[in-house]
Amino acid sequence: MVKICCIGAGYVGGPTMAVIALKCPKIEVVVVDIFEPRIIAWNSDQLPIYEPGLDDVVKQCRGKNLFFSKDVEKHVAEADIVFVSVNTPTKTQGLGAGKAADLTYWESAARMIADVSKSDKIVVEKSTVPVKTAEAIEKILTHNSKGINFQILSNPEFLAEGTAIQDLFNPDRVLIGGRETPEGQKAIQALKDVYAHWVPAERIICTNLWSAELSKLAANAFLAQRISSVNAMSALCEATGADVSEVSHAIGKDTRIGPKFLNASVGFGGSCFQKDILNLVYICECNGLSEVANYWKQVVQVNEYQKTRFVNRVVSSMFNTVSGKKIAILGFAFKKDTGDTRETPAIGVCQGLLGDKAILSIYDPQVPQELIQRDLSMHKSELDKPPHLRPVNSVAIEQVTCVGDAYEAAKGAHGICILTEWDEFKTLDYKKIYNNMNKPAFVFDGRNVVDIEKLRQIGFIVYSIGKPLDAWLKDMPAVA
Ligand code: NAI
Repeated sequence: MVKICCIGAGYVGGPTMAVIALKCPKIEVVVVDIFEPRIIAWNSDQLPIYEPGLDDVVKQCRGKNLFFSKDVEKHVAEADIVFVSVNTPTKTQGLGAGKAADLTYWESAARMIADVSKSDKIVVEKSTVPVKTAEAIEKILTHNSKGINFQILSNPEFLAEGTAIQDLFNPDRVLIGGRETPEGQKAIQALKDVYAHWVPAERIICTNLWSAELSKLAANAFLAQRISSVNAMSALCEATGADVSEVSHAIGKDTRIGPKFLNASVGFGGSCFQKDILNLVYICECNGLSEVANYWKQVVQVNEYQKTRFVNRVVSSMFNTVSGKKIAILGFAFKKDTGDTRETPAIGVCQGLLGDKAILSIYDPQVPQELIQRDLSMHKSELDKPPHLRPVNSVAIEQVTCVGDAYEAAKGAHGICILTEWDEFKTLDYKKIYNNMNKPAFVFDGRNVVDIEKLRQIGFIVYSIGKPLDAWLKDMPAVA
């Protein structure tokens, strides 16, 4: 029986391994992590991450051919294939701080693999890493190998949080990079055989190691670029009276452009986009490609601009101050169907409003109060870390309360900011909400989910990103 061990039981390691176990009943899959509470949660009824369909997959194979364990070394030693899916946040200090990937977790995992291995292994990079990481890892493994043969593969993960299970069941492609030697090709074939249990052969792409590593960074940079492009367009729509949804629809019909990732919003978030672009920027700079680096930096800058623009809209609409005013924040996760808040635009928006002394009442169906409080009191450099690696000594922010539903959040508020596109925000009883708010009552829709006309008929002043402006907002001072 082939044995797989995955180091890192996070948003990627957990779901990917659960799907491999489900689709390959004859393979034993063990997911290991040094963070014990996460392993305990994976073995309980309350999984550590929220992802539609995940519970069901885990229930079907946990205890049969899928196991979660804190006994990292034992399971690595026994495995034929070791996936490494540890976190690779942006470095916060030293060389490349603020841009380069922090490979501390990766390096310590590689050294541990070298230490405990007694048989040949295929080591698979699942984490997103800078180009040429495989080479560095290869050096660590071979210089400590005691005669054991290690083959390194790059197999970056393209799943998106919120649709992880769907993406894993039906991936657009699986990418495997390896050495062009006979041993490298044999290793590629072994991993291909795993995916071939459910992924059609034509969707499994094999490349050299560097192409696979760079393709992952490039894919995220291109996706983030589309969002920044449409968000930049949204500012222009507001200035000209065009409607960004109509513009998106019109350009998305061009098959060369395509319809996906063209929704204007308050900005992109998540643990990957910003981190991976900054990483790309750093690689460009290291290779003397400063113009190319500047090009990609713009994508991040537009994202920051979009959040600032949103905060300025809120403040300027409400008589140029939100000091002492209650504002309901609906949604805190970086997108719907996940409880992940890493780099969520909600943090920047809330901090901006708090900077103007607003009082915030926050509701998100999946994000616990402690995490919201911790995120809002943290320094930006800590924000792409998983919750358990973020500082615990953060003080609760007095002007922030977290509540159990949208109605409570909006009670007595002057304005509502919708920051995550949870489906339930589309069907709220906005008449009831309006009746319980201070007047004039504002809705600032950062995800374009509400029916603007219906809300205006109720009496709300509505701002929706990239949409023709309410008469009220037209006369307000410039927002950028
Ligand atoms: P995560 O932070 O949720 O999980 C990583 C886990 O690795 C943590 O639980 C940590 O305790 C564990 N870990 C760290 N060092 C370890 C060690 N030496 N031994 C055992 N366990 C160790 O991270 P996530 O989101 O799963 O991301 C993992 C990688 O996948 C990152 O490189 C990320 O860029 C990439 N990725 C993430 C995607 C996402 O949507 N979250 C999508 C595609 C790729």
